[in-house]
Amino acid sequence: MELVANRTAVVTGAGRGIGRAIAVRLAANGAVVTVNDVDEQPARETVEIISAQGGKAEPAVGSVTDPSFTDAMLSQAAARTGSVDILVNNAGITRDRVIHRMTDEDWSFVLAVNLTGTFNCIRSASPHMRDTARRELEELGEVRYHRKIINFYSTAAIRGNPGQANYTAAKMGNVGLTRTIAAEWARFRINVNAVAPGFTDTRLTQPREEQADGLGIPKAQRERMIATLPFGRPASPDDVAAVVLFFASPLSDFVTGQEINVSGGHQIP
Ligand SMILES: NC(=O)c1ccc[n+]([C@@H]2O[C@H](COP(=O)([O-])OP(=O)(O)OC[C@H]3O[C@@H](n4cnc5c(N)ncnc54)[C@H](O)[C@@H]3O)[C@@H](O)[C@H]2O)c1
Repeated sequence: MELVANRTAVVTGAGRGIGRAIAVRLAANGAVVTVNDVDEQPARETVEIISAQGGKAEPAVGSVTDPSFTDAMLSQAAARTGSVDILVNNAGITRDRVIHRMTDEDWSFVLAVNLTGTFNCIRSASPHMRDTARRELEELGEVRYHRKIINFYSTAAIRGNPGQANYTAAKMGNVGLTRTIAAEWARFRINVNAVAPGFTDTRLTQPREEQADGLGIPKAQRERMIATLPFGRPASPDDVAAVVLFFASPLSDFVTGQEINVSGGHQIP
C-alpha cells in the first residue's frame, strides 16, 4: 500500500543521510518529492535513486537559511497541484566547540541552518499548506485531508551535550516551533510533529579524525557512545525515515504537537 500516494512532499537536506532515506521512503510510498540540499551533486544523486526505483522527484538546490530561496522552492513544489502536503525540515549541521571557545560565527551558522531554516520553510509553506487548506474549508466546508510538517530535534538536545551549545539550543527551538505551529494550524488540519534521532549512522557521527569536512565525533567518544546503545548499534537513516513516514501518512492524522525519540531505547535523563 502506498501511504502517501500523490502527495506533494518537500524534504530539506535530502542529499545525504537521514534526509535521503526519507525522500526515498516517501517516493516509494507514492509522494512526488522535492529533494532539497545546499549541495547540488548529492541532491541530484537522491533524485536519480528515486527515479531508478520508478518514483517521482525533482531537485531544489539552495540553502534553507535563505528565505527568498525557500519561498521559491515551496512555490515550485506547489506548482503541480496548488498544494504542499508534506514538509520535512530535516536539514541540519553541526559545528562543535565548547562554549568558551565558540565564536559568533559558530553560533549564528548553526542556529541559521537548524532553527531559522525550519522557520523559513514553514513560513514559505504557509501559502501552499495553510492558505490552501483555508480555501478548502471556505469552499468545501472541510479540509480535504491532513497535511503534515515534520521537524527535527535531537536526543543530544534533550540530554545536553558538551561541545554542542549552538546545536542543542537550535534543536530545542524546533520543539517550541513544533508545538506552536501545531496549535496555530490545527484548525487547518495541518499536523506538526517532531522526530529526535538518537545516534544515527551518517556523516555527522563518523569518526572525526577520518573526515576532511570537520564533521563527526572524536573516535574514542564515538566508541563509548555506541557501547551504551541498548540494541548494540546506531540507528540507520532508514530507521528514522520509517517514523517520518508514519508522521507524513494518514496513520498519524490524530497526532499533533508531539515529539518522538528514535533512539533504540537509549535512555535520556
Ligand atoms: N546523525 C545523527 O546521529 C543525528 C542525531 C540527531 C539528530 N540528527 C539530525 O537529523 C538531521 C539529518 O542529519 P544527518 O545525520 O542525516 O546529516 P547529514 O550531514 O548526513 O545530512 C544532512 C544534509 O543536510 C544538508 N544541509 C546542510 N545545511 C543545509 C542548508 N543550509 N540547506 C539545505 N541543506 C543543508 C547537507 O548538505 C546534508 O546533505 C539533521 O537535522 C540532524 O541534526 C542527526
